[in-house]
Amino acid sequence: MLNINKIYYGGDYNPEQWTEEIWREDMRLMREAGVNLVSLGIFSWAKLEPKPGLYQFDWLDRILDLLHANGVQVALATATASPPPWFSRLHPESWPVAADGISYKPGSRQFYCPNSAAYREASSRLAGEMARRYGQHPAVWMWHVNNEYGCHVHECYCPVCTKTFQEWLRERYKSVDVLNDVWGTAFWSLGISDWADVQLPNRTTSYRNPAQVLDFRRFMNHSLLNLFKAEIEAIRSTGATQPLFTNSVFGLKALDGFEWAKYQDVTAIDMYIDPAHGDQAWKDGAFWHDLTRSWGRGKPYLLVEQTTSQVNWRAVNSLKAPGTIRTLSYQALARGASSVMFFQWRASKSGAEKYHAGMIPHYGVDGSRIFAEVKQIGAEFAHLERLGSQQAHAQVGILFSYENVWALEIDSKPAQLDAWNVLRPWYNALIEQNIPLDFIHPNDDLSRYKVLIAPLLYQISEAQAENLKSFVQAGGLLLMTYFSGVTDLNERIWLGGYPALLQNLLGIKVEEWQPFQPGKTNQMLVDDKSISCSHWADLLYTTTAETIATYIEDFYAGRPALTRNRYGAGTAYYAGTLPDQAWLRNWIKKICAEQGVESLVEADPDIEAGLRAGAYGSSTLVLVNHANRTAQVDLMGKRGRSLLDERPVTNNLTLDPYGVMVLELEQ
Ligand code: GLA
Ligand code: ZN
Repeated sequence: MLNINKIYYGGDYNPEQWTEEIWREDMRLMREAGVNLVSLGIFSWAKLEPKPGLYQFDWLDRILDLLHANGVQVALATATASPPPWFSRLHPESWPVAADGISYKPGSRQFYCPNSAAYREASSRLAGEMARRYGQHPAVWMWHVNNEYGCHVHECYCPVCTKTFQEWLRERYKSVDVLNDVWGTAFWSLGISDWADVQLPNRTTSYRNPAQVLDFRRFMNHSLLNLFKAEIEAIRSTGATQPLFTNSVFGLKALDGFEWAKYQDVTAIDMYIDPAHGDQAWKDGAFWHDLTRSWGRGKPYLLVEQTTSQVNWRAVNSLKAPGTIRTLSYQALARGASSVMFFQWRASKSGAEKYHAGMIPHYGVDGSRIFAEVKQIGAEFAHLERLGSQQAHAQVGILFSYENVWALEIDSKPAQLDAWNVLRPWYNALIEQNIPLDFIHPNDDLSRYKVLIAPLLYQISEAQAENLKSFVQAGGLLLMTYFSGVTDLNERIWLGGYPALLQNLLGIKVEEWQPFQPGKTNQMLVDDKSISCSHWADLLYTTTAETIATYIEDFYAGRPALTRNRYGAGTAYYAGTLPDQAWLRNWIKKICAEQGVESLVEADPDIEAGLRAGAYGSSTLVLVNHANRTAQVDLMGKRGRSLLDERPVTNNLTLDPYGVMVLELEQ
């Protein structure tokens, strides 16, 4: 059982890179910085098991005792993320293979095939040894299992994976006839008569079979999840009961976070927004925070890594401007995280990440602007303990599934699509006006939401279609966009006009669509105004829906662009195109208002607001100004007490450049 009752603050701690004299300095500085949690020893396998089966735990014993004596809790790594060179030497069959059939060579990290039995065995053995030794250690609060599964290798094309894929398909489909049907292999003469005919969807002459590609993505997600489950089993079989998690990767699409969350006591994210992205940077951060919280169905989650300043793995690595280590840390609190941690405590002196910032820079701590900001945040967080157990709630859901992302991005579509790009305008329209939202899987219980938005929910099952219909029938409001409900879960079109299963719900029928060439836009006539629209135009017919907007230009001028349909006690809107962002924001605001859903605050555009609620009606509003200029916030009648300086706050307030405020609200 995970009991979070404060804000955890700290970072990855890799003492194996430093002398024990430095460890003692680390302890002093951790106290000075307010650090109360570290993820320990993530990449220390070679040091813990320098030869097969020969374990060296003495150094880890010493540092754990030291951390404990200094009041720092530990998320102890199972240390399995990077197998040591002896492992790769002994198990060449574990070397991952790229889509072109060429094997990677040892010399970096995460060097293993996701289906390697030797890796699964060695990693779960080490996890078990760790748990046996430290399962009762008072410093060990949690297990940090492995690290960023799939970050570097989320696909492998080796012979072992081919064979395992064939077995996985056999288990899933039972007969080759079913497989042929599901994969639509009648097309291009791809029918198989034996499981051994199945190859991985490697580099080939033209398009690969889309249904096969989709299954391959499912299979690789499943293979990596199996590695995670094997480590969990090894830990639990020793009787160790500490809660556990694995840290997910910012931007990674390959792993199904909803599925992985089922095996974790808390969800966790590593957050690497690009400071060079201007305004979009904090919105990218918000997206990943919302997603991570949603995997865990709204429970507090962990921000396990971010950087104090530069990373070293982009073509050009921008630093984080003074004040933004703090604003991005408060963003985590605003969106429901209960820890703020960094990679890593001390910037390395050698190795491939020595130009990556740390909480302690190469410069040292005296006079360091980075360490000063790190210390300030730590000192402030000590006043914010109450937030730790409070949860962020939302009344708006964005329908989202990884399978949909995978399917959407497979090539041979009407236009090449990037799932994040197509989602972003709809997501941004909500957060730009501080309307809280969750991501919600289309199989889930939808009844706790008042408004659902379904941007390009391309694939849909019969059960999911029924789920959406019941939601609207019962009084919910759905806004669905173009290119939704087009296929089943295996890339087979639902025939009879798109989106066939949802025509009654939406009161429309789509025959064709026009994806726009780059730079092309159209106009819509809405409320006697002409509004720009982009990306796509569905050519639709209304059946029972009323038309809200019509296209102005091109051969389909006059045809409906936006529609509304009453269904049961609810309403279903449909957007056949992507409206201009400012207009979209207003439209979504109006749509939310129909259901009584409002913005948390009215504020300048650089303000991010989040609300967390806890037991006995207590709630806390977190405000972050992401710009280097003052910003105004209208609290819309809310009143409270600022937890950082104990001031009472009512109505309108001004936030300093890069300012933050945490308000305990009056009940
Ligand atoms: C990932 C890893 C860390 C480190 C950082 C660098 O998040 O988990 O070990 O490599 O990236 O940004
Ligand atoms: Zn493989």
